[in-house]
Amino acid sequence: MAAVTQDASNTEETSQVKFFPKDELVLDELESSDSDMHLTDSSASSTTSSYLSEGSLKSTKHKSTKQQSQTKHQHYELNESEFGTLTSNKYKYIQRQDMSKPVINPPEDKPHPWVYHSTIFGWLFLIVIGHIRDFFAKIMDDPDSRHLKEYNGYAPLTSDFDSFYTRRLKHRLDDCFNRPTTGVPGRYLTYLERYTPDFFYTYLPTGRQVQCLNLASYNYLGFAQSVGQCTDAAEEAINHYGVIAGGTRVAGGLSDAHVVSEKVVADFVGKEDAVIYSQGYSTNSVIFSSLVDKDCLVISDELNHASIRFGIRMSGASLKVFKHNNLKKLEQILRKEISGGKPRTHRPWKKILIVVEGLYSMEGTICDLPGLLELKKKYKFYLFVDEAHSIGAMGPKGRGVCDYFGISPNKVDILMGTLTKSFGATGGYIAADKAIVDRVKCAGLGSVYSENSAPPVLAQINSSLQTITGQVRPGEGEERLQRLAFNSRYLRLGLKRLGFSVCGLDDSPIVPMMLYNVPRLPAFSRWLLNRGIAVVVVGYPATPLASARVRFCVSASLTKEDLDRLLYDVDKIGSRIRVKMSTEKSPIDGKLRRMKIEDVLATLVDDVQGDLSKF
Ligand SMILES: Cc1ncc(COP(=O)(O)O)c(C=O)c1O
Repeated sequence: MAAVTQDASNTEETSQVKFFPKDELVLDELESSDSDMHLTDSSASSTTSSYLSEGSLKSTKHKSTKQQSQTKHQHYELNESEFGTLTSNKYKYIQRQDMSKPVINPPEDKPHPWVYHSTIFGWLFLIVIGHIRDFFAKIMDDPDSRHLKEYNGYAPLTSDFDSFYTRRLKHRLDDCFNRPTTGVPGRYLTYLERYTPDFFYTYLPTGRQVQCLNLASYNYLGFAQSVGQCTDAAEEAINHYGVIAGGTRVAGGLSDAHVVSEKVVADFVGKEDAVIYSQGYSTNSVIFSSLVDKDCLVISDELNHASIRFGIRMSGASLKVFKHNNLKKLEQILRKEISGGKPRTHRPWKKILIVVEGLYSMEGTICDLPGLLELKKKYKFYLFVDEAHSIGAMGPKGRGVCDYFGISPNKVDILMGTLTKSFGATGGYIAADKAIVDRVKCAGLGSVYSENSAPPVLAQINSSLQTITGQVRPGEGEERLQRLAFNSRYLRLGLKRLGFSVCGLDDSPIVPMMLYNVPRLPAFSRWLLNRGIAVVVVGYPATPLASARVRFCVSASLTKEDLDRLLYDVDKIGSRIRVKMSTEKSPIDGKLRRMKIEDVLATLVDDVQGDLSKF
């Protein structure tokens, strides 16, 4: 255990909103003495109470001097394995988008065509061999393959491509997925080691626990912690409310805790109102049915998340898909659909809704919000932005893509987001004008058929959002944002200079690095796991066939030294399995980037502060 230092000055009064049903909101004082602040200790929350009444926030000074003195020199003794100590103020970066330039996701770093050809050939080979094996297994009535053919009068249980893919292809790298862990998924995560005695059909625990540097979890701002103000708030909420909401929103499950949290979320994203659901996936699954119907048209980016695609399908609206981030193609579809109208009748569409994500989780690309708003002005469609990965992680204040581009959130009709990735909680929200949110609350299936969010989760949401805004523990939220921004750029530039092909925006906390070829996935993942580093590898069907990749999820909880360690190890395995395939040339000397690790690290900290496209 170690105290995690913050350099932010903390002389201001701080307060933490809680939602207990008292008559007035009391904002207690938390004083911290000096500018070299430590995250204060876990007893802090008991002396920093504030309460809510019908949304009115009234500040009252704490009467008890005893309590005041208790709060004076408190520290949270943070666990280093959850949140690493910042070792220098140089390891921070403030995100800024130069609005004089168009937003630009760097162009795709395409490898030599033989990389694609060999990858596709590998797939074909596996598919042919797999089918031959299936053929003989069926002929010879192999008991292990009985589910593939008609048996005892029953139709085959699994005989489609999904089943073939899982048995014959994914099975070979199955140990890279579903790895069991224990403890907090913070800076480190603890892997419960297992082995397979029968080529990945079964797994047995070895009994060993392995602490791994965590580049696998969504924990952008490092709020996945077992100590700190958020944990204390969650604990207090359990003491007051218990664990569950006790019902759906419309039937007994709506408490004052929900009302407060929705206000906190709406204020944070800059919208009039918000509604929170207990799961991000289900938020998207149910929301579209209350926004559009069969007389409406939804135009969706081709890389939108599965939950969006599912939700649109459930709504019954007509769907058109445009090429990822390609506004020219989108405009073509808009013109055609507006002039042609609905099929057969050619009546105008009742509503047109465009759906995009703020930050795309497999590519690290950002939506072209300014471009979309230009089109919106011209064609008058509604705009829905899923901020699952951008809220908390993008923008100088962490308020998502609008903040990143310096655009008023009021220009976007519906902002959706999840509370999982940046806030260490769970759930999803819809933030919009009150009229839209009211409609969603009344007509949305999520309000009627699904249990409302759990109070400790709401406490975590409030507490983390208020930390980011500085209402709680001023300076800490800012530091988290700046550390995340630094770490993201540092890792990205480091990998690029080593010669790896990295996709997406320079500021993206998702750093996907191309491996292309599926056999490289297990090689990469297992090697890093053996070196105590946990990463997520992704292949088909989450990516196109020849675009397998590793996705590093950067966190504010990581230190610069952690990233150096990662770069060293990735450099070694990258050379060994030959994935340094970037074809991008360095703007400095016009040569392919293949720098030595020592040279990369020598100037990386300073270069991160500049324009990465110039390096
Ligand atoms: C864009 C997007 N929307 C929604 C979701 C679902 O969120 P949750 O995991 O919180 O259910 C995800 C999950 O990763 C996502 O990437």
